[in-house]
Amino acid sequence: MTQIITVTNQKGGVGKTTTAAALVCGLSQRGARVLGVDLDPQGNLGFNLGLDIGSGSTVYDVLKGTCTIEDAIQSTEYGDVLPSDIMLSAAEVEFTVPRREFMLDQQLSAVRSRYDFVIIDTPPALNILTVNAYVASSGLIVPMEAEVLSLVGVTQLQETIETVRDSFNPHLKVIGILINKYNGRLTLSKDILELAQDVAEQLGSRVFQAKIHRGVGVAMAPAHGQTVLTYQPDSRPAQDFQEIVDAVAGERFPRPKQTFRQKYISKFFN
Ligand SMILES: Nc1ncnc2c1ncn2[C@@H]1O[C@H](COP(=O)(O)OP(=O)(O)OP(=O)(O)O)[C@@H](O)[C@H]1O
Ligand SMILES: [Mg+2]
Repeated sequence: MTQIITVTNQKGGVGKTTTAAALVCGLSQRGARVLGVDLDPQGNLGFNLGLDIGSGSTVYDVLKGTCTIEDAIQSTEYGDVLPSDIMLSAAEVEFTVPRREFMLDQQLSAVRSRYDFVIIDTPPALNILTVNAYVASSGLIVPMEAEVLSLVGVTQLQETIETVRDSFNPHLKVIGILINKYNGRLTLSKDILELAQDVAEQLGSRVFQAKIHRGVGVAMAPAHGQTVLTYQPDSRPAQDFQEIVDAVAGERFPRPKQTFRQKYISKFFN
């Protein structure tokens, strides 16, 4: 069965695209068939996965009905991607068809069975694009930035989730809150964990045990068309993301065995 997961938070810069790209890459590394869907007009997911941006059709053309989803999907070394571009920013005013909340769900139905996972990246907003992602998904992952974690905005997010559940998709769950840009050395961290628990409780969910540590490799990887999982596989954030991939992949797609060298490096140099 295909699992469709949306990475969401209406706050900008918390690590949505980084997380979505890491999931696409990490799940592909384990042999899963993965499609990454970029629903953000900023178009960063394709870039983070090494796609040549600006060539070919996008999710905008697919939602508009001027191109089939099969024709717009591009393959990368790390999985397939349905890219986006700035045209998608017109969605709110342009897509006024009846049942416009189901546009993505309907388009995905043509290709869903070809994938084990569909990972959707969303814009920093709660708008028609986010709602389309929630309607098509079974689960949400909500990354939050450790140092500025707060309850501000959580009520809005909760209301959007509830509206989607009540009106369009009763199966929608929040899989977990993902703490990102974590610095275990700061004394703040205990408060952060408590706040994250409060956020999770409000969303009827939990906090992922693994936290993503801050690391320069995460920010540098996209410039090399990679995620940190392949750019610096032995780094702390890469190991953290692999734990999140473990949680998502479950026993269906176990982690490939580490070599002795990898084990040695991650044990002594992190
Ligand atoms: N764990 C981390 N360590 C260091 N830098 C990180 C980490 N996670 C994300 N970043 C950096 O923070 C910035 C924002 O991350 P990202 O683009 O993933 O956030 P976003 O939520 O998708 O942003 P937007 O809301 O604009 O779409 C990027 O430059 C990214 O490389
Ligand atoms: Mg983003």
